[in-house]
Amino acid sequence: MSDPVIRAINLKTYFPVRKGLFRIAGYVRAVDEVSLEIYPGETLALVGESGCGKTTLGKTLLRIVEPTAGKIFFKGQEITNTDYNEMKKLRRRMAMIFQDPYASIDPSYSVFKVIEEPLEIHGIGTREERAELVMKALEEVRLIPPEEFARKYPHMLSGGQRQRVAIARALVLRPDFIVADEPVSMLDASVRVEILLLLRELQKKHNLSYLYITHDIATSKYFSERIAVMYAGKIIELGPSSMLLKNPLHPYTRALIDAIPDPDPSNRFRIREVIKGEPPDLSNPPTGCRFHPRCPYAMDICKQVIPEFKEYQPGHLVACHLYD
Ligand SMILES: Nc1ncnc2c1ncn2[C@@H]1O[C@H](COP(=O)(O)OP(=O)(O)OP(=O)(O)O)[C@@H](O)[C@H]1O
Ligand SMILES: [Mg+2]
Repeated sequence: MSDPVIRAINLKTYFPVRKGLFRIAGYVRAVDEVSLEIYPGETLALVGESGCGKTTLGKTLLRIVEPTAGKIFFKGQEITNTDYNEMKKLRRRMAMIFQDPYASIDPSYSVFKVIEEPLEIHGIGTREERAELVMKALEEVRLIPPEEFARKYPHMLSGGQRQRVAIARALVLRPDFIVADEPVSMLDASVRVEILLLLRELQKKHNLSYLYITHDIATSKYFSERIAVMYAGKIIELGPSSMLLKNPLHPYTRALIDAIPDPDPSNRFRIREVIKGEPPDLSNPPTGCRFHPRCPYAMDICKQVIPEFKEYQPGHLVACHLYD
């Protein structure tokens, strides 16, 4: 296999919990010892309950949020401590698409300006060349005729069209790696598939790698080569999508899959009906396996020892004492 586009080794992102102005009372361990790789042209789906650390992991990989420990590599180059100027150059080759296109696009900018801005920031092309790139990007995301859409303002667009603008903005710099953070969860069901198919088409065309963050393990099968399941700051299972869905190993993954026959995929709380209890407080997670208080199979060892994340079958990894 070719070298990964992105690789994380034992990555940790802790947020200090302050008491008063200065005293640090503890840390929210949003990302805790995560290791993963994403290969060229591949989508890795990252699934898990609200608050488990998905967005923090995505932002840390791009160094929008600074890691507390561990290492990040981009195309073989370590970027964990890369300085601001060098990072700015690398940023051209990575991008993030957010859940809420209303919040991520400046409402006072025309569509043209939204897409042109990253080109300007990175000093790319003349005015005319930039205009041409913007028109091409609009065509690629099917906002046609591009001249007409370029003149519009965000409030004149539908949610789906606005997300297309966000995608055009992310793609205009020709990145290699994109973190798509629940890119369709705020859109109407009818346009969700369209946007996901567009992302897949653009991926093929440009050999892009995606980290696709989602609550929806069911449809992630169609939009990802591999799935990583996150629980309370840790990846607890990772494997090829069809293998993981057919033969889930971790009790938490099984619970996520049991929660699937839900007519409304936006119902992110159904999981709570399948496994009892709440996910842990990340500033004070349980000892041993973080899932043990909710696990129907918990054994004594689960309360004391953090399970190792290891290969069960080629390419299928799990962190669970059931497989020791
Ligand atoms: N800037 C921050 N400062 C302090 N705590 C933070 C910060 N960002 C996130 N957190 C905390 O880190 C944990 C993980 O949050 P994160 O947003 O990464 O979860 P998520 O899996 O993306 O959730 P959702 O599915 O709701 O988007 C949460 O407890 C959150 O409150
Ligand atoms: Mg999030």
